[in-house]
Amino acid sequence: MAIQTCRAPRLASGLLGLALGGCGLDSPMTTVLPKSDLGRFSHDLFMNISGWALFIFVVVEALLLFVVWRFRARPGRGEPRPIHGHLGLEMGWTLIPVLIVIAIAAPTVAVVFKTQATPPPTALKVEVIGHQWWWEVRYPDLGVTTANEVHLPVGTPVSLLLKSADVIHSFWVPRLGGKRDTIPGRVNRLTFTVSEPGDYVGQCAEFCGVSHANMRLLVVAQPAPEFEAWVGRLKVPPAPPVGAAAEGLQAFLAGGCVACHTIQGLSPGVVGPELTHFGSRKTLAAGLLPNSPEHLARWLADPPAVKPGALMPKLPLTREQISALVVYLGGLQ
Ligand code: CUA
Repeated sequence: MAIQTCRAPRLASGLLGLALGGCGLDSPMTTVLPKSDLGRFSHDLFMNISGWALFIFVVVEALLLFVVWRFRARPGRGEPRPIHGHLGLEMGWTLIPVLIVIAIAAPTVAVVFKTQATPPPTALKVEVIGHQWWWEVRYPDLGVTTANEVHLPVGTPVSLLLKSADVIHSFWVPRLGGKRDTIPGRVNRLTFTVSEPGDYVGQCAEFCGVSHANMRLLVVAQPAPEFEAWVGRLKVPPAPPVGAAAEGLQAFLAGGCVACHTIQGLSPGVVGPELTHFGSRKTLAAGLLPNSPEHLARWLADPPAVKPGALMPKLPLTREQISALVVYLGGLQ
């Protein structure tokens, strides 16, 4: 089923888009500039319905103003003729709304089915697992795991398998489509194809505890060859650290980090995010801060001060240990 289009709503929705666009809605989490087929389906539907709403508003207001003017009180004029029981009018204002509701309902049902599409067999499977308050990201067919940064190839259908490790979260990257809950004990699916490379900001969209608002993520959409190169890099363990980075490794082992974090070939912790290639990520603390040495030092010194409720406690790390950890973790490329 194709989404129904009509010239009048098209024009109206174009004007509405122009008006909204003027308000700076090209912000990172805008819903009006979709970059996937899924986002485009719901956006087109939204604009279609907005167009109808605008059309109805204009017609009703125009009729209202016309009637007020045409039948206004004037000296010497009696009461207007009552129209109670006027068959043509009664039929008109019953049938026209019915037709408009059908014109809205048909594409709505079509889009509802599209949002529940079965992924094609060629789709790239990506498991996205919500944790309080970060995202685990697994590529079961590629054998790689990361956290808080979902790399996706442009132009390839992707099938997200959404799960939760604790409470209900909701995966939401506004520029790629609607929200979908991650529910403990259940797998929800989200299927779409990204249409343009870029960094798309996401956010947990279901209240999941004190740092719900700090549970962000980044989707990095790349041309297929770049994506494959990224997967290749993830499969290679980082080089053994030297100098200050080697001291950082010692701090990682002594400071308690090993108990919760996985670094391939070093530690198997699963309480916190995988860190094997942490240095190559763009953000830290689940999309909360840019991944820079200053922000990392601030995070390591006192995680709950940056992200209230964070399971990572304020560890008794010395200033020197933090500096060495910043060098070590930053070098995990
Ligand atoms: Cu996770 Cu809100």
